[in-house]
Amino acid sequence: MNSKVPYTRLMFFKEKLELDQSSENILLEYGSLFAARKKEFSAYFEDFFSKIEQTKHYLEVQDYPGRLQKIWEKWFAGLFSGRVDQSFLDMMWKSGTTHVKINLDHRYVNLSYCLARSFCLKIIREQVPAGQQNDINEAVEKILDLCLLIETDAFITNTYQCDQEVINGIAHQIRNPLTVIGGNIMRLKRTPDSKDNMVEGTYETILTESRRMERMVAEVCTYNEVFHKYPEWQVIPLHEQLNKVIEDCKSSYDLDKLDLQIGFAPLELMVLGDPWETGLLFRHILDNAFEAVDPENPVITVQTSLDPGNQKFVLVEVFNTGQLSLPDDPKQLFTPFYSTKSAGTGMGLSIARAAAQKIKGNVSLYKALGGGVICMVTLPRGDGG
Ligand code: HEM
Repeated sequence: MNSKVPYTRLMFFKEKLELDQSSENILLEYGSLFAARKKEFSAYFEDFFSKIEQTKHYLEVQDYPGRLQKIWEKWFAGLFSGRVDQSFLDMMWKSGTTHVKINLDHRYVNLSYCLARSFCLKIIREQVPAGQQNDINEAVEKILDLCLLIETDAFITNTYQCDQEVINGIAHQIRNPLTVIGGNIMRLKRTPDSKDNMVEGTYETILTESRRMERMVAEVCTYNEVFHKYPEWQVIPLHEQLNKVIEDCKSSYDLDKLDLQIGFAPLELMVLGDPWETGLLFRHILDNAFEAVDPENPVITVQTSLDPGNQKFVLVEVFNTGQLSLPDDPKQLFTPFYSTKSAGTGMGLSIARAAAQKIKGNVSLYKALGGGVICMVTLPRGDGG
């Protein structure tokens, strides 16, 4: 858990909060007034949080008595130092990473910032002449907002990093034994014993299942990444991307044995989204269609248009012949690990929907009236229409 401090982003927050030199000067001007109350501030925190079941242990168990109180004192006085520089950003970032390490419930961090705010406002009301209260009030609001933003940023970044490390670690640990299992089964399949029907069937099952697990592990990592990654918004030519994904499918499916019909809108449609994620989305939707298509009558169609329900969106409709067995609750279709196919991982549709919903789009599946399955994908238009 050693995320690098994203100084540029943090300075961007500072700028957006209009925490400029004049605000810092105002904070400095009243610095001694607030610094004189730092012990009172940390005693207030101590008293408050030692009465809460979920937080009292942090005060009871410390490296040495009073360490946390000292941290709070130093931070409080530091707010009024007039220097929101790199070391200030470092301290705030570190507070977020430490709060993740100690597993502090973030709701209590938010609560503590509310307390800090009201403590400062009380001092202003009591000690600052009425005519000057607005300026210092405003500056205090800005610096506290910045601290909470940085702390929250570090908290989210580190929490995600921890999850990601664990998931990638599990994936790695599972992938290696699966490769060994796969290799051994391939070797066994070449031995004379494997000619026995039952033995061969067993080897085949082990091989299919280990490949399914391998895919599942990779897709869980992808799902997690899609879920957490900030989208890199770009204008994407829809038909170009769909054609590329269809082309990629050729290496996995025998398109010659299948009636694939493409019906794109006459003009290129533009989508606003993250190209990696929309590519992934289309690939999973098409995989789903290829895997579910009726082998007796294999037809898949891919059509694009502006969404008739909302012209700010484009619509991609993928139809395949075959059955759709709907669960009692249709929402389950998009829940991770839900699969009706014996070799399915249950991750494809969840990844596709997560990628679409991130950019305000959606993915839905329906039974077509005349038979077959329709998958509808809506995505935001990228040409400002
Ligand atoms: C305005 C609110 C808060 C601020 C500004 C703040 C700030 C900080 C800072 C700067 C650190 C030191 C980080 C490091 O160098 O590792 C820290 C650590 C810590 N904070 Fe917070 N914190 C706040 C609220 C809380 C609350 C509500 C609790 C729980 C009651 C808490 C518990 C801790 C603990 C246990 C540590 C580790 C102390 C140690 O290293 O021994 N903090 N905090």
